Amino acid sequence: MSWRILCVAGARPNFMKIAPLLRAFGRDPRFDARLVHTGQHYDDKLSKVFFDELAIPRPDIELEVGSGTHAQQTAEIMKRFEPVIEKEQPHGVLVVGDVNSTIGCAIVAAKVFRNEAFTYRGQPRRRPLVIHVEAGLRSFDGDMPEEINRMLTDSISDLLFVSEPAGMTNLAREGVGPDRAIMVGNVMIDTLLAARDRAMQSTVLDTLGLKDGSYGLVTLHRPSNVDDPDMLHSLVGVLDGLGLPLVFPVHPRTRKRIADAGLVLDPTRWQLVDPLGYIDFLRLQASARVVLTDSGGVQEETTVLGVPCITLRENTERPVTVDQGTNQLVGTSRDAIIAAFHKIDAVRAAARVPDQWDGKSADRIVAALASTLG
Ligand code: UD1
Ligand code: UDP
Repeated sequence: MSWRILCVAGARPNFMKIAPLLRAFGRDPRFDARLVHTGQHYDDKLSKVFFDELAIPRPDIELEVGSGTHAQQTAEIMKRFEPVIEKEQPHGVLVVGDVNSTIGCAIVAAKVFRNEAFTYRGQPRRRPLVIHVEAGLRSFDGDMPEEINRMLTDSISDLLFVSEPAGMTNLAREGVGPDRAIMVGNVMIDTLLAARDRAMQSTVLDTLGLKDGSYGLVTLHRPSNVDDPDMLHSLVGVLDGLGLPLVFPVHPRTRKRIADAGLVLDPTRWQLVDPLGYIDFLRLQASARVVLTDSGGVQEETTVLGVPCITLRENTERPVTVDQGTNQLVGTSRDAIIAAFHKIDAVRAAARVPDQWDGKSADRIVAALASTLG
């Protein structure tokens, strides 16, 4: 008998997290891991490219939910995932990160009963385990849809795998003890370390006419930054004023907002490109003078690469990237961004890589799961 685990991925940052987990499950014959792709992200550049580059097996199940409001999208994920659990009878449902696919599938899994009981920590159990990878992160910003997803997912998860010390502190404060919360490091960094050498072979700098260490790399997609035309306008203006060439792979949400706002970015300063594959984007991060972003994952990746990151948000759920890494959390005001830009060389020199961000996090998760089930 093997333990069947349904692994859920749906949006861009999920694919980097699920890739090493599927590989680690594949190495342990006691597990039968299957991949569910919710279809929250469906453009090739936000989905298929990562399957190709990261050698993720084709999904066993595709829910094809597509876009919608939060309620529509989450409800569609739940409606389509429930019959999958009924059919597959998993021992566990593993979700990663903080997107709508994460909470949608976690809620369904938490309320379904299997036909047969299995043994969990020596006791019979009928409901599949809910397993959350990247648990415990908190921005303490209720305006952020991801914060709601994180809190709700953690509150119904049986096993919470944590990537940084603040996650353990947050969970302890919420009454989640060491029986459920386990520090394992960062699966996204497993993927980065495995792909780093390949990324350094990428020819993207030549393709875009960029020189190593001479440009800023920009990503923006948080609703608080891009959905308000005044905010978007102001941010772009401040970045423009930094005086270095900027390359900006534009998320589809942001592409729409730029068009709606009628915003024209100075082509002598900006290179707007479509969302990039992981390998090219990793190379662009590694060779940037500075990365300016509101992404969650990019704050972590720049820390491991030792590249200065300026985070254009008022808060971060990933404080280790500021305390130990290369991240400066600055918000969106001109003065704060310029002041941070002047500090990037000092930040680069002082940075270190957080504990357990060592490429082995997925193996730790699979080992911990096997020991609770065994
Ligand atoms: C989602 C996640 C966010 C994550 C981001 C990563 C939630 C609540 N948000 O935000 O946490 O940081 O993904 O990139 O889960 N669209 C396309 N093609 C696609 C997918 C989306 O054009 O393949 C467009 C649609 O117009 C859609 C919009 O982008 O309405 C937003 O997509 P959605 O998945 O709702 O949220 P993201 O902003 O991508
Ligand atoms: N990324 C990518 N191509 C891009 C932009 C980002 O491959 O054009 C990768 C990035 O390296 C990281 C992940 O996408 O691994 C982060 O996803 P995103 O910023 O969309 O989501 P968040 O982390 O904010 O939830």
